[in-house]
Amino acid sequence: MSININDLSVFTVGEKKNTPFVLVHGFPFNHSMWDEQIKELSKQYYCVTYDIRGLGESSAGDGQFTMESFVDDLEIIVNELELKKSILCGLSMGGYISLRAVERMEVKFSTLILCDTKSDPDNSEGKLKRAAGIKMINEEGVEKFVRQFVPNCFSENFMATHKEEYKSVINKSQLNSSAGVKGCLLAMAGRTDTTPFLQKISIPTLVICGEKDKLTPPAVMKSMANNINNSEFIIVRGAGHMAPFESAKIVNQKIKEFLMR
Ligand code: MLT
Repeated sequence: MSININDLSVFTVGEKKNTPFVLVHGFPFNHSMWDEQIKELSKQYYCVTYDIRGLGESSAGDGQFTMESFVDDLEIIVNELELKKSILCGLSMGGYISLRAVERMEVKFSTLILCDTKSDPDNSEGKLKRAAGIKMINEEGVEKFVRQFVPNCFSENFMATHKEEYKSVINKSQLNSSAGVKGCLLAMAGRTDTTPFLQKISIPTLVICGEKDKLTPPAVMKSMANNINNSEFIIVRGAGHMAPFESAKIVNQKIKEFLMR
């Protein structure tokens, strides 16, 4: 079912009586990156995805976003749908949102799943890369930015062997408005450091990393997982930054096993 909540496109699959499972996508993608997870997990869980403001079908408005406003959006969805003790799963930018959401309101969630993400904020080099991205969008358009950025999100092997799937991700990402994509870049550049909070996380946490992830590599994610008391860290062999998309079957299996414990 597709619904509009506070100008966000929200999608629910599964029976409302089941445990809620909220999935927050990465940048510059949309909710459809979770299609394979939803297909499997909706048999057992009430799955909720949405397009982050400015991406997919959620319009950009004035394009002035912060990580806090992204967390506000998530909170509104959780409240509006009356989701109690959701499992919260986020990839990369979705992970930044999820970590900050748990820092702000852990009581609303039962389990955290962090895919290919990190708790550190952007350093100076990272901020300059965001600025260069915004400049590229202003001068050459969002399509050029997407063509340059998205290849970093996949393993070489996936791009070579899954040409159609990869092309479809590029095509969808290029449909995003420049205001939305630039707004996300600024929100990520201005996000807080959630590292000091890691030790305070009390809900069970699964940390998933693609072996070939160039953006949030295994060493970075392992050290984040080491800081979370009740956590498990897994590496997905051969996958890049989009591990749940590239290796959906393995990731789904790992999530189900973790949730059964
Ligand atoms: C993402 O996949 O969401 C982005 O790579 C995150 C980022 O650029 O920091």
